[in-house]
Parts: sequence; C-alpha cells; structure tokens
Amino acid sequence: MCGIVGYIGKRQASPLLLDGLRRLEYRGYDSAGIALLTDGKINVFRKAGRIENLRKAVSEANPLGDIGISHTRWATHGAPTDENAHPHLDQSGKLSLVHNGVIENYQSLKDALKAAGHVFHSETDTEVLAHLAGTIYDESDVSDPKQRLVASVQKALARVKGTFGVAVMHADVPGVIVGARLGSPLVVGLGKDEQFLASDVAAIVAHTRDVIYLNDYDLVTLTRNSYEVSSLDTTRTANVQVSRVDFTEEDSEKGAFEHFMLKEIYEQPQSIRNALRGRLNRDEATAILGGLNMSSMELRQIDRIIFSGCGTAYHAAMVGEYLIEALARIPTEIEFASEFRYRNVPTTKSTLQFVVSQSGETIDTLAALREAKRKGLRCLGIVNNVASTIARESDGGVYIHAGPEIGVAATKTFTSQVAIMTLLSLLFGRMHHLSSTDGLELIDELEAIPEKIEAILKQAPLIKEIAQKYAHAEGMLFMGRQINFPVAMEGALKMKEISYIYASGHPSAELKHGIIALVKPDLPSVFIAPDDAVFDKNVSNIEEVRARKGPVIAVTTEGCHELERITDDVIYIPRCKSILSPLLTVVPLQLLSYYVALARGCDVDKPRNLAKSVTVE
Ligand code: AGP
Repeated sequence: MCGIVGYIGKRQASPLLLDGLRRLEYRGYDSAGIALLTDGKINVFRKAGRIENLRKAVSEANPLGDIGISHTRWATHGAPTDENAHPHLDQSGKLSLVHNGVIENYQSLKDALKAAGHVFHSETDTEVLAHLAGTIYDESDVSDPKQRLVASVQKALARVKGTFGVAVMHADVPGVIVGARLGSPLVVGLGKDEQFLASDVAAIVAHTRDVIYLNDYDLVTLTRNSYEVSSLDTTRTANVQVSRVDFTEEDSEKGAFEHFMLKEIYEQPQSIRNALRGRLNRDEATAILGGLNMSSMELRQIDRIIFSGCGTAYHAAMVGEYLIEALARIPTEIEFASEFRYRNVPTTKSTLQFVVSQSGETIDTLAALREAKRKGLRCLGIVNNVASTIARESDGGVYIHAGPEIGVAATKTFTSQVAIMTLLSLLFGRMHHLSSTDGLELIDELEAIPEKIEAILKQAPLIKEIAQKYAHAEGMLFMGRQINFPVAMEGALKMKEISYIYASGHPSAELKHGIIALVKPDLPSVFIAPDDAVFDKNVSNIEEVRARKGPVIAVTTEGCHELERITDDVIYIPRCKSILSPLLTVVPLQLLSYYVALARGCDVDKPRNLAKSVTVE
C-alpha cells in the first residue's frame, strides 16, 4: 500500500523516480509526488490522480537534481488531493519526507506541534512526522549534518505509534537519504556510484539486481557510494544481507497484453508448472516440500491445520481445507487473517498454522503469523514474494513461484496457491490414509492441469461475448457446491473488484435460504457445476433460479450437455478429477470478470479504491 522510490547517484533523479513510481503504481494510485534536492533547495511536485498527471507536471518544469524521493499514494488520512500527496515538508521547508503506513498518534503530535506554532498544509499523518523530524533536527546540537539528520529521524520515529516505511532528505544535508521501516517494506538497491530505496524491487530492478531487504526497525543511511544500516531498536543489531533478485525487468512488463490481469490469467499454465516443478515424487507417489523445515515424524504428528489469509488467498485456503480434509483426513480450519488475531482459536500441541499471501506483506496476515508464533504454534507461509516479511518471519513454508503479479486482481497466484494446497494434501495424505495408487493418480491429474487451462483460455472469445451480454447487470450471484463453493466466492470477488458490479458467492444450496429473494430477470446467476457428485443437486438449484426467470451462466464439464437446455450460457472446462476442478473452474470466471470490466470501461489493473498490497489494518 503506497510506494516509495528514492534515488541518489550521478544520474538525473526525476526520470528514474517517475519510472520507479510507474512500476509501483499497483501499490496505490490516487496521487503521487516527487521531491528533488537541487542547489541546496528542495523542489516538490505533487499531483492528485495517476502518475501520468505527475509526469506531465514534472516534465513541464524539467527540474534537475541527482537526489530525490518520491511516492505513489493510497489514501489513509485525508482525501486524494494535491495537498495530501507526498512528499511532505517540515515547517522550515528543508526536510522532505515520504511515508507508507499509519501514524496512529498523529493527532496528539499534531496538536503539540500546532501549539508550538507549526502550520500544516495537509490532512495527513505524514506531514506531522515531517514536522516532528524537522523540529528535532532544528533543535539538535549534533554538529555533523549527516549524523544530525539520522538522529532526528530516529528520535521522531521513536515518538510514533504505528507503522512506517519512510524516506527522508534535508536541504542542508546534500547527498544523503535516510530510510527506515517498521511494518512497511523497504529495499535498498546497490548500484555503482548510485543507490536506490524502494518499497518493492520492481521499482529498481531495471537498474540493479543487488539489493538489501530491510527488516523492521532497520534504519539505512544512503550516500551515492555507501550504505549504512543500523537499528532503531537499541536492543537489536541490524542483520544486513545483500541478495540477488531473480527476476528481470521484463517479468513485470505487460508485453503484448492489454492489461497485466489478462497476461497473468494467460500465464497460469506456466505458473502452475512452476509451482509443481521438482515437487512431485512419482516413486513414492507423494510431494517433496523441503521448505516446510519439518521432519516426516513431525509432519505425521500434525493433528490440526489452520489456514489464514485475506481476499483471494483466503479463498485458496478454503479450497485447501476441502483438499486436506478429503485427502489427508486432518481436521482443518480456515480463518480470515484479520479475525484470527482477535479470536482465541483453541489449538493442540501438534497444530500447524499456514499463512497464505501473494505479497507476503499483508498486515493482517502478518499479524496472524505473529499471533500464532506468540502462542507457540509452528507457522509456515505459502507465499509468492520470496523477500517478503511473511517469508522471512515464518518458520518455513512453500513459495508458489508464480512470478510478479502486478494486476490488483489476483489470478495466477490463486491457482498457484491451490496447486500448493494440493501438494500439501498429497504429502499429508500419503502419511496417513492415501494409497500410492490414489497418490499417483493425483500426480497424473495435477500434471495435466496446465494443458487443460490452455484449452479453457482458447474459449476467451466466447467468454468475452457472454461478458458483453451481462456487462450491465446490476448484480451477479455466484453459486457452487463443495470444493467449488470457494470458487464461487473468488468469482464474485473478481467481479466486484474490477467491474464494480455487486456480486456475492454462496453454496448453491443456500439459495433457497434467502438469496433466491434477489433473483429476477436482470440479475444473472453463475453456477459452477462440473460433472461431479453434486452435479444433480446443482441442476435442481439452477431450475429454481430458472423458475423465477433469473438468467443463468453455467461452468460445467465438457460433454455434459444437459445444462444447455436449462441455462442461458454454458462455458465448458475439460474433464478432470473433481477435487482438482477449482484449478479449472476459476479460469472462466477470471476471464468473465475481466471482459465485463472491459465492457464497462473500468480500469482493470487499477480498480478504484484498491491497492495490491494491503499494509494497513
Ligand atoms: C484479490 O484479487 C485482491 N486484490 C485481494 O483480496 C488480495 O487477495 C488480498 O489483499 C490478499 O493479498 P495477499 O495475497 O498479498 O496477502
């Protein structure tokens, strides 16, 4: 949520900062700004709206400067206006600061500063932090300007309650950027005679692949030729490790696709292959998941599993619950990460917790991880972003290896998370009741999934036609049973978030317990009804909707023509083992929401009010 980019070096900073912001725009896109330090003076440009607005303002002024900080915002305190956009200045106009996160005690700090004569120009919590750091700097008796700036940032952050990732520069301290984090990611990029600071490597990977992922409480001081990492917490020592980024600039480009979301939908055959690669053991008919960091003996003793996550990750966890219960017979519970920490979930000595997150930075999921660990549970991550806080703080886990996902609507990471859940079920299953024949059959079926997704993707033109037909519906219902109930939830989430059509997902049988009251000729229902054990039950529910003149779109299995008679539109998926069907049934729903959003003229990759990585509670 919100993106920071900082640069210090020998090149002109503004084009680098603007390009970095463009690559971070998925983190927040309601306003943006940059500050450059030129001839001992700070020049600030801030614009509400997309980064393009900022680019225009900056290119008209064509400012020079080889040091700068910048920000793309997702508003928490104050509306998305020019005034509320970052960077913010202190009272003297010499200290400039960008911030991700939330300063919870900003009002009391602001009141105290106001009483001391400070004048504020925005409604943000960030401006308060800028004023606080600036005032501490002005009153400091440290003579070395660099040390003075570092100490002021340190002291200001010590008075803050909340979360932050910050970048700071001062007109009297040319050639220095100070960064610090607590709860919001920050990465340092190491170049030759230049250094970068960013919320995500995507912003800087075009310039360097040597990076340092900062940990909570780290403070970094950057000059053109040096970096120094210290700790905000005197009881800790900073642990500095230089890592090499394993993806390239092209991985986070759209290529020939019109939108990232479409590209990522089409990447699913490959992202699932990547999730499975090296993890299937045909001889033992099981899965190999070394990252769990647990012995076979420890795994065999697990008697309860808890999954938590948010949004799409939560839906993948729901599929995981069905899979583990069916294949491994281990009692499994799922919980919204945001609720987990406020519940007091009873656990056994051998309970294993998984947190599921694409970004690995979602604050609620991170809080669930920390709560589980506080209670002594072993907590593993199912994560895409290998350098994320969740990946680093969990006791082990499984990377989904889906590659960068830029579209705000999660697509390929859902199917990769489900593929990993299947591997976990296979692993646990083979330690308990699952026969090697059944294990092998599952492996065969799993390996065939990518090709089956390719077949579904070929139906995109048909799905586009269907989408155009229903694009102006005022709402949509999504219904599924058993393991496809979570897919109904996921289909509804996709529809809501990118097309702004109100949609909800339900177990098909719940229809008659209330939802059917909504059914009418202009409210389409999408039934996920593959040819499985509950197919006939789904057929009955479809009939109930038809009887009330509700239009029905069905997703069903090839060769199962019965639904053509009782529905308005049918999308077919290739036949597969029922328990794996979510990996296929979700794909037409992703395409359906994509084409509905397109037909409605929505900004598919950057839906209103959303951000890719939610780092505030
Ligand atoms: C999915 O389309 C959403 N944009 C959102 O629900 C997302 O899945 C959720 O915020 C969790 O993110 P994470 O996987 O990065 O933790």
